[in-house]
Amino acid sequence: MNMTHWKESTIYEIYPRSFADSNGDGIGDLPGILSKADYLKDLGIDTIWLTPIYASPDIDHGYDISDYYTIQSEYGTMEDFELLLQEMHQRGIRVLMDLVLNHTSDEHPWFEQSRSSKDNPYRDYYIWRPAKEDGSPPNNWTSYLGKPAWTLDEQTGEYYLHLYNAKQPDLNWDYPPLRKDMYKMMRFWLDKGIDGFRIDAVNSISKDQRFPDTHQEKLQASGEPFTKNGPHIHEYLQEMHKEVFSHYDIVTAGETSKVVEQNVLLYTHPARKELNMVLSPEASTLADRTEDEFQTQEWTLDDLRSILTMWQKDIGEDGGWFGIYFSNHDQRRMVNIFGDPVNYRIQSAKMLSTLLLTLRGTPFIHQGEELGMVHNPLLHHIEDFKEQQALAYYDVMVRERGENEEKIMERIRQKSRDHARTPMQWDDSHAAGFTTGKPWLPVHPDYKEINVAAEQQNPHSVLNYYKKMIALRKENKVLTYGDFKIVLENHSQIIGYIRWMDDEAWLVLLNFSGEEAGYELPDNEADRMRQASFIIGNYSDSQHVHPNIHIPSGTLRPYEAVVYKSEGLMDDGVSQ
Ligand code: NOJ
Ligand code: CA
Repeated sequence: MNMTHWKESTIYEIYPRSFADSNGDGIGDLPGILSKADYLKDLGIDTIWLTPIYASPDIDHGYDISDYYTIQSEYGTMEDFELLLQEMHQRGIRVLMDLVLNHTSDEHPWFEQSRSSKDNPYRDYYIWRPAKEDGSPPNNWTSYLGKPAWTLDEQTGEYYLHLYNAKQPDLNWDYPPLRKDMYKMMRFWLDKGIDGFRIDAVNSISKDQRFPDTHQEKLQASGEPFTKNGPHIHEYLQEMHKEVFSHYDIVTAGETSKVVEQNVLLYTHPARKELNMVLSPEASTLADRTEDEFQTQEWTLDDLRSILTMWQKDIGEDGGWFGIYFSNHDQRRMVNIFGDPVNYRIQSAKMLSTLLLTLRGTPFIHQGEELGMVHNPLLHHIEDFKEQQALAYYDVMVRERGENEEKIMERIRQKSRDHARTPMQWDDSHAAGFTTGKPWLPVHPDYKEINVAAEQQNPHSVLNYYKKMIALRKENKVLTYGDFKIVLENHSQIIGYIRWMDDEAWLVLLNFSGEEAGYELPDNEADRMRQASFIIGNYSDSQHVHPNIHIPSGTLRPYEAVVYKSEGLMDDGVSQ
């Protein structure tokens, strides 16, 4: 397997609006991030990804760009950005920008031109279609907000497509001049010295331009079969690679959903010259219902195990690569999904970090995850919510469909993306040290206990555990490149796997339940791990309770994680 820096890095997601505010306006900014540069260095991460910081009317917190070449004034200036880049580089930290290619803001000058007349040179930068004969939209697709994906524009009497908000019109990648302008913009940032991109919704940029009606009974994004992995997607990515990526030594991580199995190789196999890696939401959306993301569905450990196995197989045997994540700014905090935020917050946060940092693929940590941040419903009334999916859901369900308000609010309180975007908790002073003013979203009331300053002091904190896990991964290449095999198939509480490379094998056992869990390794694995030594565990006495002698069989405590390493027994690899 080829070794490269982007496979070996640990990437940290910064949501700039909520990270650190330097001027007391309640909104995080670039000087704020700069003031935390040493914190990031100390954490041990290699790369930061900044969610969008470009000029934007901000209806989707930066994912609606009105000027790709300017920094949003709330966040600072281009000089602030350049200084941040320089200071990060001085600390050996790479900087990735978020690249939003699928849509712009409707306030972008291209769209203002495009909508002005049918023969404007920018008309085809976006996707326009006439109404159906009966005057209805060109097709029946819904957007990710659960509303119609087309909006009629009075000026020219045609509809434009928007997979998200009507204020986020979709760009027309089938039009070559648009692609050329996008490549130019990417080169502008790369020439400034940034280290790559996280690419938003990248597998939506080529649509089936026949725009057929969909038969999917789904609230959000019902047109997905015709908008994901579309007819020209690989052609455009290869062109992008040739025109842009191939000229720089960078990281390219595509946000992709509905990219499974062999698709991953099409996007990430090095010989295809497209992307370095894809970020897939299968795990973090496991508890979301397909027909309506605001409703929850039951999931089992088998479901999670098969997702992990699929990721690991695609990466390993065939040469693709994944970015691995369980939390980001679009999902609930991972302890709320997979752990127990009330009774075993610390144990489950550490257990999940053990998973994240011992899988093959490039791990992504979402700010605050390293503190074990969780969310209990914090915002209560629809007026308190800021993110557009929650607001749109309320509109559609309560105002349009007349559903019971309390029932819908209960779902929004559980699921809204705002909960993963509350301010970073730095210390126990006013607003958790995030701002001296009034934070744009409330700080979680648990900040007195869960904050950087307190956790730095405590050797058993989630933060100190993350630091150890990040360092462990960096020092042991087997965790990045080694093979992967599930042990304890079908176990209802434990996920267990072996990672191995050359003559080293690592065994990871993770209890996903709030009860004790017994296990017995199959004979061949037990044999190979016979002389294994204890490496790390998430209870302060894990080593004492689980010395190597217990490996063949044993009992894990609630949400317990243990990692062992065995050397010199692996001449022929682990038997399959
Ligand atoms: C994915 C981003 O992560 C999300 O926050 C955003 O709303 C959509 N793409 C649209 O850009
Ligand atoms: Ca600010």
